[in-house]
Amino acid sequence: MKTVATYSRKGGTGKSTISFILACFASAAGHRVLLVAMDPQGDGPRWASGGDRKLMEGDYFESPLGFTVLFSPRYMPELDTTDWDLVVIDMPPEVETVSQVNPNLWLTPLDGRDAVLDTMPVIPQMIASGAQVLFVMNKVDTAGKRVMETLHEGMESISERHEQVFFWSDELPVAGSIARVPSYFQPPWKVPFGKGTKGANSSLDLCTSVMGMLELRS
Ligand SMILES: Nc1ncnc2c1ncn2[C@@H]1O[C@H](COP(=O)(O)OP(=O)(O)OP(=O)(O)O)[C@@H](O)[C@H]1O
Ligand SMILES: [Mg+2]
Repeated sequence: MKTVATYSRKGGTGKSTISFILACFASAAGHRVLLVAMDPQGDGPRWASGGDRKLMEGDYFESPLGFTVLFSPRYMPELDTTDWDLVVIDMPPEVETVSQVNPNLWLTPLDGRDAVLDTMPVIPQMIASGAQVLFVMNKVDTAGKRVMETLHEGMESISERHEQVFFWSDELPVAGSIARVPSYFQPPWKVPFGKGTKGANSSLDLCTSVMGMLELRS
């Protein structure tokens, strides 16, 4: 069983979106996938259910998209490691939740300067856990080009100093945005992997990279 925890200490950076797309991608590749939503908003479970499910704490169900979903706000339960090839944990921004999970890979979307500054204090804890860490610049179209270049350099210098830390981006100023096309995300569960847009291709590339880091076939 491999575990990915999607975490950043700022809201709205794309944690749920990336977790959801990764769960779709991995199950489409034939893996047994569990998406755990520790995020109390339950966006992932709602999208996975087709958008209209009334969520209750502890909800556990099969998504028509091919993976299993657990809605477990702020709480990470013990799992039977033989049941799953991949567990994707969509985390809330609260720092207290970080110590509950022990992933193989921290996947950290950052949408600009505030996200980097807010998340920075938690990064040593992530690195010290021995897990891989992947920073993903996401939704950066709204940030200034110069700001993004500076962040890009800062994140790259962290990844140069720590061999298990990686930085994922395409080219500035899009800088690895997993998608720029609003219709692709409205609602995301309808077209998880629509081809033909730069964003969609880019999110496929991200999922492929993550699967490679976890040594799972994609
Ligand atoms: N690459 C992207 N391009 C455009 N919009 C995006 C992208 N990634 C996410 N979004 C949009 O940004 C919003 C926030 O994304 P999401 O809900 O995944 O963030 P989050 O980090 O899970 O937020 P929260 O902290 O509230 O749980 C959503 O409306 C989503 O559709
Ligand atoms: Mg979320």
